[in-house]
Amino acid sequence: MNILVLGSGGREHALCWKIKQSPHAEKLYCAPGNGGTREAAENIGLDISDNDAIKGFCKERDITLVIVGPEAPLARGITDVLEGEGIKVCGPSYAAARMESSKIFAKELMGRYSIPSASFRIFDDVKKAEDHIRSAGAPVVIKADGLAGGKGVIVAGSVSEANNAVKAMLEEKVFGAAGNKIIVEECLKGEEISILALTDGTNIIPLAPSQDHKRVFEGDKGPNTGGMGAYSPVPFVDEKLFEDIRKTILQPTVDSLREEGMPYKGILYAGLMITDAGPKVLEFNARFGDPEAQVLLPGIKTDLVELLMSTAEMDLSNMTIEWDDRDRVCVVLVSAGYPGGYEKGNMIEGIQDAVNEGVLVFHAGTEARDGKPVTSGGRVLGVVGTGNGIKEAADNAYRGVEKIRFKGMYYRRDIAYRAVDQTGFGGGDLAGAR
Ligand code: AMP
Ligand code: GLY
Repeated sequence: MNILVLGSGGREHALCWKIKQSPHAEKLYCAPGNGGTREAAENIGLDISDNDAIKGFCKERDITLVIVGPEAPLARGITDVLEGEGIKVCGPSYAAARMESSKIFAKELMGRYSIPSASFRIFDDVKKAEDHIRSAGAPVVIKADGLAGGKGVIVAGSVSEANNAVKAMLEEKVFGAAGNKIIVEECLKGEEISILALTDGTNIIPLAPSQDHKRVFEGDKGPNTGGMGAYSPVPFVDEKLFEDIRKTILQPTVDSLREEGMPYKGILYAGLMITDAGPKVLEFNARFGDPEAQVLLPGIKTDLVELLMSTAEMDLSNMTIEWDDRDRVCVVLVSAGYPGGYEKGNMIEGIQDAVNEGVLVFHAGTEARDGKPVTSGGRVLGVVGTGNGIKEAADNAYRGVEKIRFKGMYYRRDIAYRAVDQTGFGGGDLAGAR
């Protein structure tokens, strides 16, 4: 079958790389793609914010299956548009994708079905929000309702910081209409993990747990980014906790959306805080995480096209997933200045030397100039090391990283460090949690 992947990050390179290994993939396209996806797929210069353009391309090239990488096309209803033409889409409908595109929609749904999450209030008025914050005290979390490119959440350490966030969103409209309404939420404490699952609207196939590193600097300091690195599996997520998450969060979420007439099919990404009172939802995403996808997809032994097609066809009842049990660590190499402004067009050297060290190198913000890779984004490359135990996987990833150079290259040297600390050597039998 002919397949189209939408997006241009490390996640999409990992998807294309894996899909290419399937005998079901005849022609593989990636729109718009990057300097890495062009090795596995044909890059197509489509504007992926234009539903009609995507639809036209799919009909012209006889596309059977579309896999939506980022959230924005889902929030614009690309699934509904393509399915209207008989094209299969691995991604939720407009209505169900509101689990990510409207935080208020997700919080209210969780409230109706007692899915554990932080307590919250909704505001569209600065004064009322400030009154509430004064009585609730700090720390407190302020969230824009809509999509804000990963910047719409402020974990405020003080009442004045919280009030500033409220004004920025409701009054100054720093996130535009996405900040017309806000959530003021209880600040949860604990360890943060991501659990992604394939779901057909009824059945769920959870993937191995992973942990992202969102802050730009070592020791989890500095501003939030799209993700500076990730690892999987997560040592402290044992079989019991995993089952608990499945029973109290994943299954009830999928069941409640189906019961409300908007079955959710695609990848359901639950960002969770493991608190003293058990796992609670921080947020949902309607897609694979990035960089999480870069550590999860290489570990899947089952044919990925069969998994994603069965998801799109809303029938996972006969599917299981088989894993390569090793640990994986992804270190993201970024351009100096990210998540603020950065230079573009710098030559990247040493990728093949890194690959020769045994790592996978997924491209994110790169493009080809005269056939050679140059930087074109904030997150440039993801370097994935594999090993028996997280320490070995991290050591292997960093051995690969050392071979790569570009002007202004920056990365965190402490990716997965917490997992290594927790287990001493990063080992641990997690087969039960997969
Ligand atoms: P998001 O942009 O929705 O992924 O959220 C960014 C980050 O904010 C999350 O990864 C958490 O670290 C943090 N966060 C969100 N909600 C809460 C909460 N209720 N309590 C503590 N931290 C939170
Ligand atoms: N790494 C976080 C995300 O993909 O949203």
